[in-house]
Amino acid sequence: MSDHGAVTAFCEAQAIGLVVIGPEAPLVDGLADSLRGAGIAVFGPSKAAAQLEGSKSFTKELCDKAGIPTARYVRADNEAAALAALGKFGIPVVVKADGLAAGKGVTVATTSEEAQAAIRDIFAGRFGEAGAQVVIEEFLEGEEASYFALTDGSTIVPFGTAQDHKRVGEGDIGPNTGGMGAYSPAPVMTPMLRGEAVSKIFVPTVQAMADAGMPYSGVLYAGLMLTRDGPKLIEYNCRFGDPECQVLMMRLESDLAEFLLACAQNRLASLDAPRFSDNSALTVVMAANGYPAKPEKGGSLTNIDAAEAGGAKVFHAGTKRSKDGALVANGGRVLNVTACGNSVTQAQTRAYEAVDRIAFNSGFCRRDIGWREVERETSEN
Ligand code: AMP
Ligand code: GLY
Repeated sequence: MSDHGAVTAFCEAQAIGLVVIGPEAPLVDGLADSLRGAGIAVFGPSKAAAQLEGSKSFTKELCDKAGIPTARYVRADNEAAALAALGKFGIPVVVKADGLAAGKGVTVATTSEEAQAAIRDIFAGRFGEAGAQVVIEEFLEGEEASYFALTDGSTIVPFGTAQDHKRVGEGDIGPNTGGMGAYSPAPVMTPMLRGEAVSKIFVPTVQAMADAGMPYSGVLYAGLMLTRDGPKLIEYNCRFGDPECQVLMMRLESDLAEFLLACAQNRLASLDAPRFSDNSALTVVMAANGYPAKPEKGGSLTNIDAAEAGGAKVFHAGTKRSKDGALVANGGRVLNVTACGNSVTQAQTRAYEAVDRIAFNSGFCRRDIGWREVERETSEN
C-alpha cells in the first residue's frame, strides 16, 4: 500500500470503481490523493484531511479555532518544555505522542513520575517521528463512547454509536490496546447527546476543514468523553474503528457500498438516512497470549464453524493458514467473535457461548465486554 503507483496501476488494470481505504497509515500517507489524481473514486480522506487522526496537535488546534469542546492541552516539541508544562496540570494527566503510534502512544499517568517517564520515553525515540512532539492534556472524567459520521465534505450523516474496551484487562485495567471488544449501539449516547455531538463537534469540524481548504471526505470516528459538561472530543480516527466496525456492520441494514460511493462522489445529500437494526451487537476479541506487548504467533485455532453454527459471526483479524493448511494465529488480536441480541446482555451471552466453542489454547479474551451496559440493563429489570 505504500507504493501508490502500484496500487493505482492495479486499480486501473482491474477497472476498480471504488477504493475503500481501511487503515490509517495509507490515508495519512496520501494514498487517497494518488488514486483521486488518477480519476479513481475513493472512500477516505486526503492526506491533508487525515491529519485529524495523524496529528493530535493538528486536531487540538482545530478544536481551539472552531470552539469544539475538548480537553485543555499544551503542545511541546522538546523534553524540557514538556516537563515544565506538566506543572500546569493536575494528576491524573494524559501524555500523548503527536503522531500515529498504533494506539500505544497515550499514557494516562496517575503520578507525576509516570508522566515524566512517558515524556522522556517519547523524546528518547520510542515512537520514532510520531514522538517529535507531545501533547499534554487535562484528564477528562466520564464514560467514553464512539460516534461515527459519514461526510463528503459538506453533508454529514450520523452512522451509529459504539463503546470500545481499550484496556487489556477485565474491569478496564492494564495497558491500552487497539480494543478488546465493543458493542453497538451505545445507549449512553442518548438522542440528546448525539444531537449535541453533531452540532458542537461534527458540524464545526467539517466546516473548519472545508474553510481550511482541506475538505474531509470519509468516515469521522469521534472518540468522546461524556463529561458532566457534555460530550468532549478525545480524538478523531479517519476510519471505522476495529472492533467497532464489526458491531456497526452487524446492525447496518442499508447497502454500505451505496453510502461509501455516495461519499466518494460528493452526493451524500441525495441518499435517505441509513437504516440500522434496533438490536444490539457485541464483539469479543480473542487475542494471542502476550498481547499487546509480545503476542505469541502460530497458535492453533479450531471449531470456528461450530461457533458460527450457533448464529455468531467470527471475523478474522490476525489469522493465516499454516503450510499444512491449518488455521493459526498471526497477530495480536486474532478473532472477533460477534453476536446480536435484543439487549446487550443477550448479545453478550451469545457472543461468549460462541467464544467458548472455539479452541484457541494460546489465546485469551476479556470476559466482561459490555459490562457497563449489562449492569445498567440488569438494574433496570
Ligand atoms: P486516544 O488514542 O487519544 O484515543 O487515547 C487513548 C485512550 O486514552 C482513550 O480512549 C482514553 O481512554 C484515554 N484518554 C485519552 N485522552 C484522555 C483525556 N484527556 N482524559 C481521559 N482519558 C483520556
Ligand atoms: N478500537 C479503536 C480503534 O480502532 O482505534
